[in-house]
Amino acid sequence: MPAKYYICCNLIITMEKLVRTKVKDLLKAEPGKDVLAKGWVRTKRGNKQIKFIALNDGSCLANIQVVADTSVISEDVLKRLTTGASLEVRGKLVASVGSGQAVEIQAEEIEVYGDCDPMRYPLQKKDTSLEYLRTVAHMRPRTNTFGAVLRIRSQMAYAIHTFFQNKGFVYLNTPLITESDAEGAGDMFEVTTLDLTKVPMHEGKVDYSKDFFGKRTSLTVSGQLEGELGATAVGEIYTFGPTFRAENSNTPRHLAEFWMIEPEMAFYEIEDNMVLAEEFVKYLVKWALDNCMEDLEFLNGKYDNGLIERLQSVIGTEFQRVTYTEGMDILEDAEKKGHVFEFPVHWGADLQSEHERFLVEQHFKKPVILTDFPKDIKAFYMKQNEDGRTVRGMDVLFPKIGEIIGGSEREASLEKLEARIDELHMSRKNLEWYIDTRRFGTVPHSGFGLGFERLLLFVTGMANIRDVIPFPRTPRNADF
Ligand code: 4AD
Ligand code: MG
Repeated sequence: MPAKYYICCNLIITMEKLVRTKVKDLLKAEPGKDVLAKGWVRTKRGNKQIKFIALNDGSCLANIQVVADTSVISEDVLKRLTTGASLEVRGKLVASVGSGQAVEIQAEEIEVYGDCDPMRYPLQKKDTSLEYLRTVAHMRPRTNTFGAVLRIRSQMAYAIHTFFQNKGFVYLNTPLITESDAEGAGDMFEVTTLDLTKVPMHEGKVDYSKDFFGKRTSLTVSGQLEGELGATAVGEIYTFGPTFRAENSNTPRHLAEFWMIEPEMAFYEIEDNMVLAEEFVKYLVKWALDNCMEDLEFLNGKYDNGLIERLQSVIGTEFQRVTYTEGMDILEDAEKKGHVFEFPVHWGADLQSEHERFLVEQHFKKPVILTDFPKDIKAFYMKQNEDGRTVRGMDVLFPKIGEIIGGSEREASLEKLEARIDELHMSRKNLEWYIDTRRFGTVPHSGFGLGFERLLLFVTGMANIRDVIPFPRTPRNADF
């Protein structure tokens, strides 16, 4: 904006330019100053003489009240201040006479940036259900709920980097396009530039030598394998990036595109891995309590009145460590006593969310770290136990969510790793680069992956994972 000029004795004196102050800072400021605020109208009310405009700029949950005297601000301008319209306001910050806020802006000048047709604006009072808001995901960041979620999400990302940087971990960027299926689950999105209407074939198979990379490639399901290359060189790394899974699970806990944080540490055994994972999530939850209280209180009030208490309880509780076999015994026992699970429980079965939540919410009543799973339900890279039938995996299970972290100590022995790859009929050729870590100076090492949106489900108390990522990708949905 142009600076204000004053003409005095034929000299033009430039006064100090009024810079914009964010609402977050205005609400904490001392009254008495001239201020400039910018934002979007949330509501307008009042009478013929005076209008009250709630202005929000996303810097915090709260709005600042703008008081517009109709003798100062023209009728033409006031008419345009409908919900969603954008404006800048110059005026004086004064102590508020009304209850609900300490300060407000006594408007001297209002300029409308953009009008907002109230008939067409998608964020009407009438339908604010989370389901409806998903259909207008391009607009929902302007609601209190998604403003809060987005600010918490950003704070959590900051906390993650801070946690690992303070510990001297190296932030490693692993590729999104890859030829390896790290988890061996086969649910990958293929990446190709082949013309799908005339795919080149060779001996009955797709001829990928004609494709962009000259081989079959996909979007990564995990950065772990490349993370291990980093850890076995610089010691301790973490990744933080998007991962993609084409599993057709339409649940409130699965996304086709989600973000994962994967630390990987040389010289860590499973015990060290568990200690780090527990410290890590507690640090993140504490960070949210320390830095996001206004937003948490809002979410606690609107969606989940046990939220803040649950967050506080997690940071003060030691996680329960249990082996898969012990966990299965507990579940089978519960079944014998009459508890009905939808999915069967028996040694060898993969745990479903209902089982995980039973252990956490009903049996132990605290977060659980489950370890030593049957090798057949876990990925090829996990360290094999002496018993020949279990591997040194660890899943961290949380109330309301189930699995939030999956990880393991890695198989460091070249012979055992190769034997397992063969046993699972995986291609050794595609994994030669990975196997080299075991060939050349192998070390015990461990790591885990935290699902960023699963963490956010826990921290925000939202019930559906589609509501903690700005633009969710799920089966049959890639809008925006
Ligand atoms: O248990 P997962 O599959 O483990 C791995 O990918 C390992 N490579 C991690 C490692 O050891 N470096 O996934 C890790 C976490 C899960 O615990 C869960 O929180 C999250 O990623 N996750 C998903 N989150 C949202 N949508 C999905 N479809 C997810 N699949 C896994
Ligand atoms: Mg897992």
